[in-house]
Amino acid sequence: MGQGFGKAFEQGEGVNIASNPCIHEIDSERRHVLRCTTAAVALLMGSHTLTANAAAPAKGKPLGFTGVPVSVADTLVVPAEYEAQVLYRWGDATGIAGAAAAAFKDDASNSAQEQLLQSGMHHDGMEYFPLDKNPRHGLLAINHEYTDDGLLHSDGMKTWTADKVRKSQAAHGVSVIEVVERAGVWRVMPSSRYARRITSNTPMQFSGPAAGHALLKTAADPEGMRPLGTLNNCAAGQTPWGTFLTCEENWNGYFSAQDKPNPDEVRYGLRAKGFGYRWHEFDERFDAVKNPNEPHRFGWVVEIDPQDPTQTPIKRTALGRIKHEGATTTLSRDGRAVVYMGDDERFEYIYKFVSRDRVKPGGYRANKDLLDHGTLYVARFDEQGYGRWLPLVHGEGGLNAAAGFSSQAEVLVKCRQAADAVGATKMDRPEWVAVHPSTGEVFVTLTNNSNRGQGDTGPNAANPRNDNIMGHIIRWREGKGQGVGANRLDGDASAVEFRWMHFALAGDPNAGKAEYRGTIKGEMYGSPDGLQFDAGGLLWIQTDISTSAMHKGAYRGMGNNMMLCADPATGETKRFLTGPAGCEITGVSFTPDRRAVFINIQHPGETASERSDAAQPKAVSSWPDGPAGGRPRSATVVIRRKDGGIVGT
Ligand code: FEO
Ligand code: CA
Ligand code: CA
Repeated sequence: MGQGFGKAFEQGEGVNIASNPCIHEIDSERRHVLRCTTAAVALLMGSHTLTANAAAPAKGKPLGFTGVPVSVADTLVVPAEYEAQVLYRWGDATGIAGAAAAAFKDDASNSAQEQLLQSGMHHDGMEYFPLDKNPRHGLLAINHEYTDDGLLHSDGMKTWTADKVRKSQAAHGVSVIEVVERAGVWRVMPSSRYARRITSNTPMQFSGPAAGHALLKTAADPEGMRPLGTLNNCAAGQTPWGTFLTCEENWNGYFSAQDKPNPDEVRYGLRAKGFGYRWHEFDERFDAVKNPNEPHRFGWVVEIDPQDPTQTPIKRTALGRIKHEGATTTLSRDGRAVVYMGDDERFEYIYKFVSRDRVKPGGYRANKDLLDHGTLYVARFDEQGYGRWLPLVHGEGGLNAAAGFSSQAEVLVKCRQAADAVGATKMDRPEWVAVHPSTGEVFVTLTNNSNRGQGDTGPNAANPRNDNIMGHIIRWREGKGQGVGANRLDGDASAVEFRWMHFALAGDPNAGKAEYRGTIKGEMYGSPDGLQFDAGGLLWIQTDISTSAMHKGAYRGMGNNMMLCADPATGETKRFLTGPAGCEITGVSFTPDRRAVFINIQHPGETASERSDAAQPKAVSSWPDGPAGGRPRSATVVIRRKDGGIVGT
């Protein structure tokens, strides 16, 4: 279980939580945050290009805020010395210059056309991109993961029309908005030359080894190069060259497949009628019986340049086709890009991509093809805390024509099958990945897996609990060991070996069953999902207890979903906020000066079935508009300390 070397690991961490000025550097070509280790930044930029615009030393004690108790209230609760401001709700104007958006209608009667200029629904992963020397003026790229069609249309799904399909498609995708703070108040710029909506119908492009492969060709796109739209964009990432990586997660649910899906369709969860979105009834593209290759055009990481609203988003096939949760990018010791990715489903895997070439200064222009060439790996977690990255390379490890992989393109399209073939470790739903800003240590949330222990799927060293309804967080350090203890590893993100241990098994210390109690040092939580380091090395944990599990069984007493802050050096964990009823907390991103944190409140008011009753839109929640509003709305929220100090202290 990796505990054997845990002590040495922690002792060797060398984290300076209080002041860590070296990790938030700005590329002089493009003022974005470089989220990577100090050494790697120096390599990439050359020390002469580093500006002094680093995060100011933290004043105050890490975790010095007043923790909040669990809550079942329909409100957002933050520490007493903090304030939260709702910034961008579903239906708010995106602020696209020259395109006046209609006002949001409380009865959800906005048209599909109007929805195209408004915030989408169900905000999820999000990244902040500073625009200039002012750390509190920048762009937010925000995923809109899915829709609750019971709330999206005035009469829900009672009738079903082509217009409703188009509105649902327009409420999916990504928003890019411009935000600025003045005197402690943030606002969305009402007319921004950067603002943009990307939807399930936006023209995109394939690149990398699978682009143009027969499996990606359709009648509408015989070259297999020009897919339309992105779907179920869950977590995300920011590259060192200033682009947004948005990740296609449960895309299979939008397709209606044949009654008896073939084995490749089964492996990705395609089935007749999907998850009940009913798009296929008015948009043949989502009828996988008529268009069997269309599902191959989803499940990718999509690269978006937030500074160029005319850019065609690019589906990067070298990163594999899975149910991508997120894409967290760091740099190897020699300056190559390393992208960590989870495939969020029970018993799926953790991946990383290592680019062939080094990242160059000069923003996106200089790194346009970087994610097209490199090696994709999948993780194997061994006993005693050892681990290995297994390459998914055609011709290696049995990935050949006899095994069903005639080319690298096929390895990437059937990425899950390739990972099966090389013997990757089945995990308990890999969600977000976070890389420590100075040590390079990697943390991943495994949100839960109630099926662990059923059939022949018993526990393994990395996923040690049967019926793992509470989830856990695992951590590792990359590199070859040069002595005793993981602290001796060089931490090079491109390494093929690593050593791992658990950060925490989640749970409630008062739970009746021992397996549900966990090992958290501090305040309880379950179902960890969002995970992010701030520039000072504090770890932010967001929970996604599903609405079907919330307030029931072992989750009775844990309250609504929450965000916590942990000190990775000590493991100490404190609850920072609790969300309104029926929501998930997600999308955490900081300004480089750490004076503000953006989060998303996703699906407030969600019912256990995940589709609301259109006749009672406020049955669970009326957040954020309150009783005067018409229905709950997902929203981006910005949180700051009332005295303007550093968040988390
Ligand atoms: Fe969209 Fe895995 O959460
Ligand atoms: Ca998630
Ligand atoms: Ca989730």
